[in-house]
Amino acid sequence: KASEQAQKRGWHLYLVGGAVRDLLLADPDETLLLSDIDMVVDGFHRSADVGAGVELAKALQNTYPEARLEVHGQFQTAALLWHLDPVLDSLWVDIATARTEFYPYPAANPEVEASSIRQDLYRRDFTINALAVRLTSPRAGELLDFFGGLRDLRSRQIRVLHANSFIEDPTRIYRAVRFAVRLGFQLETQTERYIRYALDSGIYERSLIQNSKAPALQTRLKAELKYILQAPYWKGALKLLGDLEALKCLHSTLELDDQLWKQVRLLERCLRRFDPEKTLDHWQMRLEVLIAHLAPEYRPKVAKNLQLPDDSIKRLQQLDLDQANVAESLPACIHPSEITRVLKQYGLPTLILIAVQSQRPIRRLIWKYLTQYAHIQPPLNGNDLKALGYKPGREFKQMLDHLLAATLDGEIRDRADAESFLAK
Ligand code: CTP
Repeated sequence: KASEQAQKRGWHLYLVGGAVRDLLLADPDETLLLSDIDMVVDGFHRSADVGAGVELAKALQNTYPEARLEVHGQFQTAALLWHLDPVLDSLWVDIATARTEFYPYPAANPEVEASSIRQDLYRRDFTINALAVRLTSPRAGELLDFFGGLRDLRSRQIRVLHANSFIEDPTRIYRAVRFAVRLGFQLETQTERYIRYALDSGIYERSLIQNSKAPALQTRLKAELKYILQAPYWKGALKLLGDLEALKCLHSTLELDDQLWKQVRLLERCLRRFDPEKTLDHWQMRLEVLIAHLAPEYRPKVAKNLQLPDDSIKRLQQLDLDQANVAESLPACIHPSEITRVLKQYGLPTLILIAVQSQRPIRRLIWKYLTQYAHIQPPLNGNDLKALGYKPGREFKQMLDHLLAATLDGEIRDRADAESFLAK
């Protein structure tokens, strides 16, 4: 339908980006579910047509009224969103107008037609993402491969289109790693050199300081980090980011050294053991462990720059003091009730962050608290005390605390023990 609408207007429509890459990589015997489809329109020759993408999306919405239309920017792109069934999730179709200078030539000139889509594709990140399939006739179905994308798909290489790619957009460093690990591709040698050069030149820090678009850059970096850290292949991607020293983009002092790698592995054990239902955002906990590896004075700023939620920023801000308190108080604790008194003031994320950074004896106590002590309840609760004739108030609360402490320390094992404990 989209190509019919484009054809009717004398425009060309192309399927571009990830969908083309994934179609070419897909096993022909398997069904490929695309949830994100990018299309580009070009081939028009009136300046009024620069809003072609939006016009096409609106025309499509008339045909598919169930789709939601979103227009971004005045002319640039429009998206149609279908909420499909819960299994298939949703389908996004982005329709953009070819990003090129407007040219005053007739669309019939094939060289000019090609150059417009070519320029659009040339602005993209990697050769494997700069392929297009023409959807309109003549030559519908033709693959446009101006930059050797097909060769790189076959030889499994992530290659940029030009030397400045990472300087123009440092988040592409993270995208390169993401695609390499996800697809099992190699970073092409020269591309890896460009990455290292961009990182060595401090591009990221400079982009943040000098650039009025710094918040947008941080938002995109966070999105890439989230994408990577929640993917099944996150460990491999993090390892490659570490090898490239790309964690510098978070803070110039951040390195994936052996200690941090060990902490990341400990975190996984903690998350598996203490949060099997995934009530915490595991990708965010991974990011917090990276940030917690920085000197305490840098942590809140990096967390804020990455627009982490307030509770996460606060946790990282407090972590230093909380760690010091635990390190100082826990070694002196002998009884489970004392350990519980120290640790129960902290939420699970804080305890996990402290545990992964602590020496083994402290870590063991936190582990013991989380696996055992935190789940112990006295045999009598508040309602039982009321039934026994005690009145709620400050003393009542103290009684419950004492009951819990005695239960934790093994002095109370059952209800009868608890009642005689109260009688004393
Ligand atoms: N793109 C880019 N530079 C970026 C982000 C995106 O050049 N920093 C281009 C790429 O050509 C990409 C297209 O925009 O193919 C769409 O971006 P996105 O949806 O993020 O990537 P996909 O390739 O569709 O990847 P995925 O399958 O992971 O969604």
